[in-house]
Amino acid sequence: MSIDTELINAPPEKLVIDKVSKHFDTSQGRVTALESVSLSVREGEFVCLVGPSGCGKSTLLNMIAGLEMPDSGQILADGQPIRGPGSERMMMFQESALFPWLDVLGNVLFGLRLKPGLGDAERRDVARFYLKLVGLEKFTHSNVHELSGGMKQRVALARALAPNPRLLLMDEPFAALDAMTREQLYRDIQDIWTQRKKTILFVTHNVREAVCLGDRVVLFSPHPGRIQERFDIALPRHRDINSVDLASYATEITKALKRHLRPQMEDIAE
Ligand SMILES: Nc1ncnc2c1ncn2[C@@H]1O[C@H](COP(=O)(O)OP(=O)(O)OP(=O)(O)O)[C@@H](O)[C@H]1O
Ligand SMILES: [Mg+2]
Repeated sequence: MSIDTELINAPPEKLVIDKVSKHFDTSQGRVTALESVSLSVREGEFVCLVGPSGCGKSTLLNMIAGLEMPDSGQILADGQPIRGPGSERMMMFQESALFPWLDVLGNVLFGLRLKPGLGDAERRDVARFYLKLVGLEKFTHSNVHELSGGMKQRVALARALAPNPRLLLMDEPFAALDAMTREQLYRDIQDIWTQRKKTILFVTHNVREAVCLGDRVVLFSPHPGRIQERFDIALPRHRDINSVDLASYATEITKALKRHLRPQMEDIAE
């Protein structure tokens, strides 16, 4: 195949972040959250963003979600500039951000409000389908305060998945959970990613978590937020976070982090 044919046949980039910069004016002065950040993500890729606090990871996800706008540069999703939130790009946060006045089903139905063209009965069917997918069908009518932290994150995952977004933006979604619950969710999210053909951008402080989940790990450094290095993770799926092969990647990436960020290492877990 010639290089021209190969280029024509290559799948389009799902997401193109092109020289994006963003600053905030704060009480302490101007903060450059991101400076000339460029990253392309292919359809179906699982990309993990790692870096210490303040390097602009959440800012970048918020801009991709359409909640913030870049100062300069551009972000294209499926070749189109992002102008606001949309059901094809859903976000999941560290805290589940569920509505306490709605039950579990009501919270997942809320995720479907951005999805036009569905009747009430269809919305309920879709919500129930995703609650089953995350293993919570027995808790459909539970109140949010009756759920454990892990269950709340599962509801948040069902809510993010329900509109069937092609791009899932996950901002430290498992950071507040215990190790066993997290390991189960690593298995679940890998299942969902492979079976439901999502493109996922996943932010974490945890290098092992990034290696366990990512096709690629992208390292950021702060003040100003910049991309420093990118690593391809050539490990077969499903990956076990405790495997030796995974540990050697994690060691390599942690060393790179230390090289780039010696003064800011305290909040990076290998
Ligand atoms: N709305 C805002 N107003 C003012 N400053 C902000 C705002 N959002 C982010 N910042 C600043 O921009 C920088 C990047 O913040 P951001 O939240 O994107 O970092 P992060 O990499 O997600 O950090 P963490 O790992 O702690 O979540 C920080 O210095 C932060 O103080
Ligand atoms: Mg953040």
